[in-house]
Amino acid sequence: MSPVEKHLPFPYSYADWKQRAKQAIDREAFTYVASGAGSEQTMKANEEAFNRWRLLPQVLTDVTHRDMSVSLWGQAMATPFLLAPIGMQGIVHPDGELASARAAKALGVPFIASTVSTFTLEQIASELGASPHWFQLYWSNDMDVTKSLVQRAEAAGYSAIVITVDTALLGWRERDLSTGYSPLKLGMGSANFFHDPVFREKLTKPPEVDRKAALEHLLNIVFHPGLTWGDLASLREITPLPILLKGVLHPDDASLALDCGVDGLIVSNHGGRQLDGAVAALDALQPVCDIVQNRIPVLFDSGVRRGPDVIKAIAMGADAVLLGRPYIYGLAAGGEAGVRHVLQHLISDIDVSLALTGKRTIRELNRSVIVKSNAHDTGPVSQPDVS
Ligand SMILES: Cc1cc2nc3c(=O)[nH]c(=O)nc-3n(C[C@H](O)[C@H](O)[C@H](O)COP(=O)(O)O)c2cc1C
Repeated sequence: MSPVEKHLPFPYSYADWKQRAKQAIDREAFTYVASGAGSEQTMKANEEAFNRWRLLPQVLTDVTHRDMSVSLWGQAMATPFLLAPIGMQGIVHPDGELASARAAKALGVPFIASTVSTFTLEQIASELGASPHWFQLYWSNDMDVTKSLVQRAEAAGYSAIVITVDTALLGWRERDLSTGYSPLKLGMGSANFFHDPVFREKLTKPPEVDRKAALEHLLNIVFHPGLTWGDLASLREITPLPILLKGVLHPDDASLALDCGVDGLIVSNHGGRQLDGAVAALDALQPVCDIVQNRIPVLFDSGVRRGPDVIKAIAMGADAVLLGRPYIYGLAAGGEAGVRHVLQHLISDIDVSLALTGKRTIRELNRSVIVKSNAHDTGPVSQPDVS
């Protein structure tokens, strides 16, 4: 426990959590989490886009009893948000994903484990037990390794596979390039690979003997720039689990995804960490929902900070949202307890916001509760994060 986390009560606002995280961890690690690609215009646009929409509440609707659960493919989820896959959480706290998973379980929030987690998918699953969890796949250019990861996830009880499709290559992240910091190159995301029997078979020497060569191999296979729509069928043959694509922005891609028979989409621009200049994720949400027409679940992330953001995204057509940076700042500032507080605060904020919108359930939210605000009225978003 850092001195900061011992003496101060936990904060409420996103800006304050971010500030606490900045005080608690190394500059390089904080920058890695807080930064985006290039000029960071897309990262900023994600938050600004929420300011361009306002809620239009209705009153006198009896909101004494409320329910924020949602259902995806008939599976009930206690909250309308899940924890986004965030890799290498060990850079902000020694307990990394294990602490986040424990907090998620305590509050019934579904957890999505990243391929490049600091701990193995099996270790994370054993923290989660029966609490819902999905596995995020970076589809490796080595199909044997991809297959092995998916089969391990299925065996460990993950109930959906999220294929991240906006990472053909890693984004051009100027602030990380300036600090010279790459946790992937340092091996912070290697656990799932170094423990994988198929990955290990492909090495001349095991990672315990020649870590450098094992890491080099990992870096060569982790992404798959050659991936196309035609490849998706091969994953369907491997697993009966629902398959979601994360990182879809273009409505034409939503059509292609439907043609390919995927089970869900996540509208996301990776928190502005991939293509700088890409559209704000919220601006891509309605066009995608209009194509999908409720045939499969559409989830959303990138810029969700507070309860009203969740209400807005769902009112636009999302079935649920993913929470990203806010819970990582909670982890950095206070480990498992920090994440628990962030989640508890968001749950309470969603509950209050739902009631004050005049609705009792998430299902009742629709486009009648949102209006586009005056274009000049965007207001400040978050505070500057690095000196
Ligand atoms: C530090 C960090 C690491 C991330 N790692 C992954 C990852 O391993 N896999 C993935 O699909 N997305 C990853 N993401 C993207 C998140 O899943 C999510 O799309 C993003 O955080 C949403 O933006 P927001 O946090 O600004 O709301 C990462 C994001 C951050 C900030």
